[in-house]
Amino acid sequence: MREYRYGRIKPSEITDQQVWLKRRQLIKAGMAAGAGLLLGGANGPAMAAIAGPGNNRKISLSGESVYGRTLVPTEYEHITTYNNFYELGYGKEAPAENAAALKTRPWSIKVSGECNKPGIMDIEDILKLDQEERIYRFRCVEAWAMVVPWVGFSLGRFLKRFGPTSRAKFVEFETLYDPEHLPGQKRTVLDWPYREGLRIDEAMHPLAFMATGLYGEVLPGQNGAPLRLVVPWKYGFKSIKSIVSICFVEKQPLNSWNATAANEYGFYANVNPKVPHPRWSQERHRVLGKGVFGGKEDTLLFNGYAEEVASLYSGMDLRKYF
Ligand code: MTE
Repeated sequence: MREYRYGRIKPSEITDQQVWLKRRQLIKAGMAAGAGLLLGGANGPAMAAIAGPGNNRKISLSGESVYGRTLVPTEYEHITTYNNFYELGYGKEAPAENAAALKTRPWSIKVSGECNKPGIMDIEDILKLDQEERIYRFRCVEAWAMVVPWVGFSLGRFLKRFGPTSRAKFVEFETLYDPEHLPGQKRTVLDWPYREGLRIDEAMHPLAFMATGLYGEVLPGQNGAPLRLVVPWKYGFKSIKSIVSICFVEKQPLNSWNATAANEYGFYANVNPKVPHPRWSQERHRVLGKGVFGGKEDTLLFNGYAEEVASLYSGMDLRKYF
């Protein structure tokens, strides 16, 4: 099993003792239940997910990622109450407070553009795809990080279903536009709908995935229900929430933050301690749940996944393509 490179941090430094102990028990139980699965891959028996608080519907898992199994998840409460989701408001607590405004049924995703099999997929069918538990250190944008036991599936595998053509050089994602219900869209802070993009090779990389849940349960609205992107080696703003459209395109698409403040947010958004944000250093970050001044740690290039993803950017000046 693979060790995550933040393994040198003591689990007890990331979360409180009680949660840590509970997690140890769950890992033991999970290992017993899933021993065959680790060898057998996604065809093995269903995994026991890291248990959530039971707020939302459970998702049945078919496998687990090899990444991050030694990481201790940030508490559910922190992951779900300290969010950026401008459609649901502008403070960190606002998305949780306004989550009910986001209606996630009916919901479908339109896939279009440079592909042979464009189509519309209903979220209920998407939820029936093979879902794995994937634990990553997730790096947010203003120098904080958290460890999230996501539930989701490979983005690349999903995209291949639609037969991208050789002209599909990038993938563009869009969030729901519904100003009547989403309070944040009544203001023009961003040019709605929220948009993001990946280069096709980034999108096809096995680390990139679509999340439909966390802590074994369907995603809460504030975390981007019913479907959001997670790109573990990039800053959080790449992780577009509540996606309704995916389009294969030939030219590099605009992403919302780049369109709003190009000097602060680029297209690539790779976690890079050597490239400061114009208003703050990116050399260190704080771990959510450890207080404002606690839990600081060094930020690693590509969020610690250099071995896996650095080759995607070989020969590129990462100061220019930030
Ligand atoms: N997606 C949409 N649609 N709207 C947003 O405002 N904020 C982004 C990203 N995805 C955002 C979004 C930013 S800036 C961050 S840091 C992450 O979501 C935060 O994800 P989290 O709240 O699950 O931690």
